[in-house]
Amino acid sequence: MDKRELRVKPIVNGTVIDHITAGQALNVLKILGINQHSKYVVSLLMNVPSGEMKAKDVVKVEGRELDPEEVDTIALIAPKSTINIIRNYEVVHKFRTDRPRQVIGLVRCGNPNCISNTSEPVSSKFVVESEGDDVVLRCSYCEFVLDRDIAEHLQ
Ligand code: CTP
Ligand code: ZN
Repeated sequence: MDKRELRVKPIVNGTVIDHITAGQALNVLKILGINQHSKYVVSLLMNVPSGEMKAKDVVKVEGRELDPEEVDTIALIAPKSTINIIRNYEVVHKFRTDRPRQVIGLVRCGNPNCISNTSEPVSSKFVVESEGDDVVLRCSYCEFVLDRDIAEHLQ
C-alpha cells in the first residue's frame, strides 16, 4: 500500500468497528469499557472522509472480539456501523449491527420518577422504535421517550 494513503495500519487479530456515525467513536469506547486503565491496543479514527457517509469514525481493538450485548448497544448509537472480525490479518466475519427490538438494563430512563430509577429491583426496559436512521427508545414502564442523547444515558 502507498504510504501516503496509510492512515492506520491493518491489525493482526481483533475487531474493527467501521462506519461509525461521526462523533460516536468515544461512546463506542465507553460501551466497550475501554478507558485509561485498559491494556488493549486501540486505534481511533474520527471524521475520516467516507464516500456514502461523508465522514465516519473507526475504532480498531487488537486482540479482542465483542460480545452480542456490546454489538446491540453500539447499534443504538451508531446504527450503520460494520463489525469486522480480523484473524491473522484477514476479515473473517463482517456484519452490520442490527438494531435490537428491546433494550434491557443498558440504558437509564430519563424520567427520575420511573420505577426503573427507584430502589425497586427493576431493570430498565425500552422498546426500540426507529425514525429513519435515528433510534428512539420508549420506556416500557413510563412511556418516556429517549431520542437524542442515548449515549449519555448508558448505564
Ligand atoms: N482492517 C484492518 N486490519 C486488517 C483488515 C482490515 O484494520 N487486517 C480494517 C480496514 O482498514 C477496514 C475494515 O477493517 O477499515 C474492513 O476491512 P475490509 O473489509 O478489507 O474493507 P472494505 O472492503 O473497505 O470494507 P467495507 O466494504 O465494509 O467498507
Ligand atoms: Zn421510564
